[in-house]
Amino acid sequence: MIVVDTFAAVRAETGSVPSALVPTMGFLHEGHLSLVEVATEVSDRVVMSLFVNPLQFDEAGDLDRYPRDLERDAALAESAGIDVLFAPSAEEMYPIDPATRVTVAGVSSGMEGAHRSGHFDGVATVVAKLFAGIRPAFAIFGRKDAQQLAVVRRMARDLSFPVEIIGSPTVRETDGLALSSRNVFLGEEDRSVALGLSGGLFAAAEAARGGERDGAALEGLVRDAVTAAGADLEYATLADAFTAEPIGTVDREVFLAVAARVGAVRLIDNVVLW
Ligand code: PAF
Repeated sequence: MIVVDTFAAVRAETGSVPSALVPTMGFLHEGHLSLVEVATEVSDRVVMSLFVNPLQFDEAGDLDRYPRDLERDAALAESAGIDVLFAPSAEEMYPIDPATRVTVAGVSSGMEGAHRSGHFDGVATVVAKLFAGIRPAFAIFGRKDAQQLAVVRRMARDLSFPVEIIGSPTVRETDGLALSSRNVFLGEEDRSVALGLSGGLFAAAEAARGGERDGAALEGLVRDAVTAAGADLEYATLADAFTAEPIGTVDREVFLAVAARVGAVRLIDNVVLW
């Protein structure tokens, strides 16, 4: 594995080989490594980007607190089979204060977009820059961020980036908690509270398998489980898997998404239903 910090160096390493990009903000866990596994199946030149993108944080404190450990990440990336680790400085990514933002209307507006002002503009902008600077043939995103996946797919399509976007399943702890870099901030007690999110989603998925199609009923199961566990619910929403538009019935591929605060830690999770 080679570690580089400029777009030009990534392109020099990938050459004309159709590469697969795994975009990350670092502090890697099994979830990221599962994205790498998918990337290695579709390409023999795998690039991982590692950049904590200030544009997508709506709270300055959250950006400062975001866990970082380049040495640990580089070791994990290498053992996972990454060929090129792109870890740019803020100056490489944003040489001047960027005047341009990529806004993906509609897809970005509900759920995370409604609770985190400017978040998806920041995500779409940095991902567009990664696509333009690296020119991957494939890019792998986790389904845990289901709305982000919908935003990125729409952005790539609207801007004609010649990249195939691949969604990869959420990886969970054995108790059901979805893996997240933020889980390191959960104390022992917080962890059992956090299980309200996955517990509620699993109960809703079970109900859907049993024939429940009503969005309000499914959302209610999640809301009740999260509240009973002691977390502060932000939303439980059923949405179209591709447009991220909130919908009332399971009549196509949808995801049921939840966001809640466990103490100071904000967590999101979802299940795909169809
Ligand atoms: O999902 C993430 O880690 C980030 O939102 C991404 C896609 C790397 C953009 O900064």
